[in-house]
Amino acid sequence: MRHAPLDPALFVANRGRLAALLPPASLAIVHAADAMPATGDGRLRYHPSADLFWLTGVEQEESVLVLAPGARDPGDRETLFLRRSDEHTARWEGERLSAERARVLSGVARVRWLDELPGTLHRLACDSDTLVLNADEHERSTTEVETRDVRMARRLLDRYPLHRRERLAPLLRRLRAVKSPAEVELIREAVAITAAGLERVMAALRPGVMEYELEAELVAEFTRRRARTAFEPIVGSGANACVLHYLDNAAECRSGDLVLVDVGACYANYNADLTRTFPVSGRFTPRQRAVYEAVLRVQRAAIARAVPGVGLRDWKRAAQLDMAAELVRLGLLAPADVARDSADEPACRPYFMHGVGHSLGLGVHDLAPADGPLAPGWVVTVEPGIYIPAEGIGVRLENDVLVTADGPVDLSGHVPVEPDDVERLLARR
Ligand code: GLY
Ligand code: MN
Ligand code: MN
Repeated sequence: MRHAPLDPALFVANRGRLAALLPPASLAIVHAADAMPATGDGRLRYHPSADLFWLTGVEQEESVLVLAPGARDPGDRETLFLRRSDEHTARWEGERLSAERARVLSGVARVRWLDELPGTLHRLACDSDTLVLNADEHERSTTEVETRDVRMARRLLDRYPLHRRERLAPLLRRLRAVKSPAEVELIREAVAITAAGLERVMAALRPGVMEYELEAELVAEFTRRRARTAFEPIVGSGANACVLHYLDNAAECRSGDLVLVDVGACYANYNADLTRTFPVSGRFTPRQRAVYEAVLRVQRAAIARAVPGVGLRDWKRAAQLDMAAELVRLGLLAPADVARDSADEPACRPYFMHGVGHSLGLGVHDLAPADGPLAPGWVVTVEPGIYIPAEGIGVRLENDVLVTADGPVDLSGHVPVEPDDVERLLARR
């Protein structure tokens, strides 16, 4: 782990919040993510399970958390199982967690090796009525790869076919959507690191620079600040900015074009997700500025509406209506197009075809109830855009906003976004 040590109180509190929602006499089990294969004997960089991290702070493969909050013996209520450290792994990959280290990290008092897992599970299962099992229930997940949680759930359901079963995912979805102050601080740190990367991009931006050279600035800054990229950065100049998930980052940034940079740092597994759009030459053309200011107005209005009680569909719909009005002003839509607008066929769709934002946290598109409503403690991105391939213009602006009872708090409010500020900063290169 690269980040500074975290206070285990975060994970203790998270387990407490979950335990309060579990049915009586239940046994909840959460597994680490699998280490994923690459080519041959290679492996992809390990990506820890967000659920297990949220509950324990553990980022190590093969770990298992077993919760039996109603167990008669208080010692049985929380047990963390780890793979045993061995000399071969220590030599080739580095020391695995000791039991003591895992206790300090997670605040779980009872840490055991994996060879004790089957016996303990059987004993606790015999004393439980309900198995609470985890699965990937992200509404936009399309992967065919089965998670370790699901693989193990099949085995448990086969072994204990007469137990009641409950889904853990809806509980974690509700809980993880609401960030504690400690989590908000980690997201703030990820945002600060991302902002520093964007500053470096601005310093390096000039006609002739390659998109991948700007990506290199981001990666260098994140790395020296103990972070990694939350996702593959998008650095798209000219018409490339209109490809929503453009990842090649291979073109030259040309004078007169804009470059769209959508990037986030991942610090201690918490993500930022920001987008800024810069003029390569340092000055917006009048048309680029008009499009940019339209996106900025839609973003400002959507940030102001990020308040408790707002459903995500209504939030998106309001931004679509704002955007349709802006597109008329830009001459891209006719008033007749807007008259035909509906929630199913929004008029803005030819130029603004994605959502207005998403929950952010341990996931870049973090777990949260599908329609909200927004509640204090949610962190959401606010990211309208206008894409005009025929003009080689793509503008998206993305900020990360904390929902509170006192109104929205823009965690990225310090990242320059006003076009005059952007031009002034670029003029200092
Ligand atoms: N960068 C991914 C997103 O903005 O959702
Ligand atoms: Mn983004
Ligand atoms: Mn986003």
